[in-house]
Formats: sequence, structure tokens, C-alpha cells
Amino acid sequence: MEDTNRREELKDFFLGIKNCLECELSGTRTKLVFGSGNAFAEVMFVGEAPGKNEDLQGLPFVGRAGKILDDLLGSIEMDRKQVFIANVLKCRPPGNRDPKLEEINTCKSYLFKQIDIINPKLICTLGRYSTQLLLETTEGISGLRGKTFNIGGRTILPINHPAAALYAPSRMEILEKDFQRIKEIMDSGSRSGNNSKVAPKIEPSDFEEAKGKIEEEQLGLF
Ligand code: URA
Repeated sequence: MEDTNRREELKDFFLGIKNCLECELSGTRTKLVFGSGNAFAEVMFVGEAPGKNEDLQGLPFVGRAGKILDDLLGSIEMDRKQVFIANVLKCRPPGNRDPKLEEINTCKSYLFKQIDIINPKLICTLGRYSTQLLLETTEGISGLRGKTFNIGGRTILPINHPAAALYAPSRMEILEKDFQRIKEIMDSGSRSGNNSKVAPKIEPSDFEEAKGKIEEEQLGLF
């Protein structure tokens, strides 16, 4: 796909699914949380599912776990504008319960399509659900975190979910260490892939054009 079309394709995809009625979560959600970030990102993060704040705002990782994610990105001199952040489920499970298998199976094609469009070199899976989905395994996160896997020409790096550090502060050190792995992988010359652009600046006119057409804030595309 032409790089210049990537943002447009993501926007169109968002518009096509934002009123999704494919599962029962559509009946309880406030907003579908498509994901946000850079359409040209080389690094993509995949969490579990939107929580309360994400559901209200339509943006991923805007609550306490999001603050941790921001801090971790900052620790490797990165920010949200350079990466793309999505979830396995696009809609909040009521009461933040665990995703159900049938919900994951219904929703997963949306994530796969996002990966297809963005074409990141590295996908960092946050926690059990995204790790098991993308690695097609039932193995637990503790045995997988910090290791890299090559799936379809991309690197997958499972790490703990940032929320883990909310409940066990000692996990923060592990997360920081794993974020250093992200930096190492991205700095290493051994990466292979076909992204030719990294976080290009988006002109203000891009936003003007989009205004009124879509909820740009919810899409949060850089
Ligand atoms: N936890 C997630 O997995 N995703 C979010 O968007 C927020 C919290």
C-alpha cells in the first residue's frame, strides 16, 4: 500500500466500524475505542480492552494505566505521536470484566486489519489477552514476557500490562526493562520491514480537512 494512503485507509476503516453492532458490548459501550496514534508507526502497542475512561472518551489508555504507558514511553524517549495504541476489544466489557472468548473472536479481525494497514515492525503486546491472540498460544504472559517472536515478518514482544504496576509497584522495574528492549529492537540495524516513513509531521490542513467529517479527536490520528 502507498504510504500516503495509510491515514486515509485508517480513517475510512474507523468510520466503517465505529457503530459496530457485532457483539453485545455494543449495547453497553459509550464509544467504540478504535485506537490512536501514528498511522505510520513502526511500533504498535496492543492492550486488552477499554476501561471506563477510555469508553467515555473514545481513546485508548487515558486512565491510570495510560499514565504509566506514557511514562514508560518517555523512559525510551518516545511518545504517543510516534506509536499506535490499540486493544484486542474495541468496546468496554461492563465493569471491566475479562474479555469473553466469543468477543475476542468477533473483534479480532478489526485489530488484524489495523495491523495490516499500519504495518508496524514491532508489536508490543500488553498483557495476556493480546499476547495470546497474536502468538496464537494459551501460554501465560509470565513465561513469554521480554522474549521476541517473529510472526509473519514482524517482531512481537510480549510485556506485562501497564496496569500490573498499579497493583504491584515492583512490576514497574520489569516494565522499564522491557521498554528498554523496545528501544534496543528499534535501534538495532537488524530490523526488517517495509515502512519507509517514521512519524511524519501531519500538516494542520490534514486536520482541517477531516473536521466535521469524523470525530477526529476520537480517532486521534497523528
Ligand atoms: N487497559 C487496556 O488494556 N486498554 C485500555 O485502553 C485501557 C486500559
